Amino acid sequence: MKESLNWAILGTGVIANELAQAFQADERTLYSVANRTYDKAVRFAEKYQIDKVYDSIEDVFTDPAVDVIYISTPHNTHIDYLRKALKNGKHVLCEKSITLNVEELSEAIELAEQHRVVLAEAMTIYHMPLYRNLSRIIESGKLGQLKMIQMNFGSYKEYDMNNRFFNPNLAGGALLDIGVYALSFVRWFMTSTPTQIDSQVKMAPSGVDEQVGILLTNNEGEMATVTLSLHAKQPKRGMIAFDKGYIEIYDYPRGERAVITYTEDGRQETVENGSTRSALQYEVKDMENAILNGETMYLDYTKDVMAIMARLREAWGLKYPEEK
Ligand SMILES: NC(=O)c1ccc[n+]([C@@H]2O[C@H](COP(=O)([O-])OP(=O)(O)OC[C@H]3O[C@@H](n4cnc5c(N)ncnc54)[C@H](OP(=O)(O)O)[C@@H]3O)[C@@H](O)[C@H]2O)c1
Repeated sequence: MKESLNWAILGTGVIANELAQAFQADERTLYSVANRTYDKAVRFAEKYQIDKVYDSIEDVFTDPAVDVIYISTPHNTHIDYLRKALKNGKHVLCEKSITLNVEELSEAIELAEQHRVVLAEAMTIYHMPLYRNLSRIIESGKLGQLKMIQMNFGSYKEYDMNNRFFNPNLAGGALLDIGVYALSFVRWFMTSTPTQIDSQVKMAPSGVDEQVGILLTNNEGEMATVTLSLHAKQPKRGMIAFDKGYIEIYDYPRGERAVITYTEDGRQETVENGSTRSALQYEVKDMENAILNGETMYLDYTKDVMAIMARLREAWGLKYPEEK
């Protein structure tokens, strides 16, 4: 089995730069880069000392030297690239939201199984050491039973159709852009996926969801509230309440610090694990561990979150052009 994997990057935008920097921090380089605009790929390759640039995006899928493709283009372009990458036997780490809907995700999972490759969504929460340690603390039982989760995510974006945030043609909207983080956080801590889902939504002038309130309950009676906004900043804070205490997580989703308050005596404990700036390094390491050693990339949670998002959009009657 190979010990060193060749990564190709598809896309050269904000998050692609962060991934390339994560490789630099680990003193590694990406093997190759593909992008819709060739000139930007060339500049990206120069910036990060990447040897190979493809003339056409299509060439990345058939390059026999490529082991893993990292997809970092807008949501609605993912499925086409996923199909091509998986059919060519490439492992894929795909940016959130991994697909537009459940049907596309099921198709991609089937292809990954057929071609025996790893498919994962780049959901940093699942790879941060802090969340893993908090899970261990919760499993120890000292906080008692999980009761409520509060998770808010808000970001101020202009109504600018040149980027994806409010653009229906780029599968914009709060849910797919930031709700996916909030729901992944909820899924990480809940015992099982929510079965009762209620929500209210306010649409942006472009017709995608701008502001959302969601209430979720699972079969264990654990509840969560999620509020999302793409036109108002909210503090990056998550709260998980148990019958014997609560956890506050700061600077979510790439959190490195949480404070636990034990309600019986008011005692507080600060928990610090990992570092925010290494988030994508953890994600890459876990992806390689999944490929080489069969470790999980939490695709089951990705499926649960996609199913919740599908139910919400169905309730709102929100369909993207590809779905009409
Ligand atoms: N995990 C995270 O923390 C995080 C953070 C930010 C974003 N993301 C996700 O990463 C993805 C990209 O976000 P970003 O902020 O990096 O975007 P961005 O800066 O706007 O970059 C978009 C990239 O996609 C390409 N692209 C745009 N439209 C395309 C199309 N129709 N077909 C093919 N390629 C196209 C662009 O190519 P050109 O150079 O040709 O324009 C560019 O390389 C999204 O899925 C987003 O949700 C994740």
